[in-house]
Amino acid sequence: MILQNKLGITNPAELAREEEKISKIKALQLFETGLLDTFEVGIFAGLQKIHKYLFEDIYDFAGEIRTENIAKGNFRFASVMYLKPALENIDKMPQATFDEIIEKYVEMNVAHPFREGNGRSTRIWLDAILKKELKRVVDWSKVDKNDYLLAMERSPLKDVEIKVLLKEALTDKIYDREVYMKGIDASYNYEGYHTYKTEEISNKKD
Ligand SMILES: Nc1ncnc2c1ncn2[C@@H]1O[C@H](COP(=O)(O)OP(=O)(O)OP(=O)(O)O)[C@@H](O)[C@H]1O
Ligand SMILES: [Mg+2]
Repeated sequence: MILQNKLGITNPAELAREEEKISKIKALQLFETGLLDTFEVGIFAGLQKIHKYLFEDIYDFAGEIRTENIAKGNFRFASVMYLKPALENIDKMPQATFDEIIEKYVEMNVAHPFREGNGRSTRIWLDAILKKELKRVVDWSKVDKNDYLLAMERSPLKDVEIKVLLKEALTDKIYDREVYMKGIDASYNYEGYHTYKTEEISNKKD
């Protein structure tokens, strides 16, 4: 299965390559132009603008809330049915301390508002909160990709691992372009989504 895209690409590996290339160029522009600093910090509206900017040349759904239920591994992200109320509640979550910020990030990951590109856009969103509230960002070059993924898989149940991992990687180099760009290395997870049809979910007995 391959996502419909504006580039007319039908080969998954090619799409992954082009998507990574284009979204990285856009991410850099977002930073260099100062546009990112004009987006709302810590609410969905800001994340939406980040996602739209990164992916608008690639997907029609850039910046749009998904209309399909999706899962990765054994975890199904927020049901489309509850997505909007979930996002409204996340907007209201506090973000004064490191723990509160990571708890908010974990909830945003559980919501997973977009069809694709949640990881990259939400890491930028997270760094913007850390930058504003704590004058710190995550130096993603210090975060092992496997450790990150394991901690994120675990995070809906227990967030201590992702908290420890990201806390150890905090830096005060908040204006550093390389530090910023490291967060959008797309190689955190190439594995595709499992998409459920609504009927399949309602028929499912656990
Ligand atoms: N099993 C899981 N349970 C919970 N969260 C997960 C799981 N697997 C991955 N994630 C989170 O989802 C993100 C990937 O989401 P998505 O593919 O939409 O974004 P991306 O930008 O394409 O990927 P990436 O984060 O790999 O750059 C990961 O970065 C991680 O935070
Ligand atoms: Mg992905």
